[in-house]
Amino acid sequence: MYDPVPPDSPARRIGAWALIAAAVGVAAVAFGYVGGWLAPQRLTPDKLIDQFQDNAGTFAGYRRNHAKGVCVTGYFDSNGRAQAYSTAQVFAPGRTPVVGRFAIPGSNPYAPDSSVPIRSMALRFALANGQQWRTGMNSMPVFPVATPQAFFAQLQAQRPDPATGKPDPTKLAAFFAAHPETAAFRAWAKTAKPSASFATESYWSLNAFVFVDASGKRQPVRWRMTPEATDGDAGSTGGADYLAADLAERLTQGPLRWHLQVTLANPGDPTNDATKTWPDDRRTIDAGTLVLERTEPQDSGPCRDINYDPLILPAGIAASDDPLLPARSAAYADSYLRRTSEEAHLPGSAAPSAETKR
Ligand code: HEM
Repeated sequence: MYDPVPPDSPARRIGAWALIAAAVGVAAVAFGYVGGWLAPQRLTPDKLIDQFQDNAGTFAGYRRNHAKGVCVTGYFDSNGRAQAYSTAQVFAPGRTPVVGRFAIPGSNPYAPDSSVPIRSMALRFALANGQQWRTGMNSMPVFPVATPQAFFAQLQAQRPDPATGKPDPTKLAAFFAAHPETAAFRAWAKTAKPSASFATESYWSLNAFVFVDASGKRQPVRWRMTPEATDGDAGSTGGADYLAADLAERLTQGPLRWHLQVTLANPGDPTNDATKTWPDDRRTIDAGTLVLERTEPQDSGPCRDINYDPLILPAGIAASDDPLLPARSAAYADSYLRRTSEEAHLPGSAAPSAETKR
């Protein structure tokens, strides 16, 4: 076909440059949007993590929340009962290796274990088909807030007043008055005591997820780990680091066990609101036993370079519509990037291996 504009004409060259400039412009706007620069009021993972650091200080190389913890290893022994609801290979009868981490919430890795009544359990299941399931659970049955924005507002309200070193009670009261959805958590917190052991706690997923069966049928669920050890086994509470000492002591006597309890939602149960528990009569299945055999320090153990991102899920388990889930995933990635880039600059520290780095 005849083209009236010669290939090397100025008009054609200007057109080409205009196209390139437009493409660069579109890319810049896209980056600006994702980075939050175009809407400074928008909540970004960076802002959330900055707020953790603003509240407690920056502890190089440590997780920005749940900074104090220990690694654990063992396996999950599935009894096959969850297979009717999920195709995830971890639910076929048999064992799946697990690398986990116990921790306490907060950004200070030197905080005394008695400083908070909450303990956490994070697990990475390495399925035989190469897929993974990562989950982070807390030892309370309900979360204080339902949205990332409310979580951010809570962090801001908890910021220590420089004059007292403690959160300003007026700001906290204003936050709670503006967030009545925190009532169930506050009722729990009123009587909650810091436990003497990681081993005697139950750990809740809090967020809802979706099990998918072989026919593609979707069943909203929440899960929790319930311990075989009871309060009667309570260990030492001396010193600031009694949780790690108690765990190591118990494991010299033999493995510790929890049962994976999966609760099935009824139609209409809320899946997008971690401040609302489901009624007690919901069907719950025992899917198998978590067996933990060994503990190691977090700076040299196998959990060090794992980001327990709750959205790393195998086929057969999917995210729900809970808005906390994508916010957690993004914030954990930001925390991970900060701590691993700091570690890389510490003299004598080994760089994360390619296998575990993500
Ligand atoms: C928007 C809400 C939330 C934010 C911004 C947030 C933020 C964080 C951050 C930054 C970390 C450190 C991650 C890392 O560096 O590996 C963390 C750890 C953790 N979070 Fe959250 N979190 C949120 C909600 C929740 C909820 C709903 C749960 C429910 C169980 C939870 C459980 C945990 C646990 C268990 C850990 C410790 C993981 C580990 O041991 O490595 N978080 N959180």
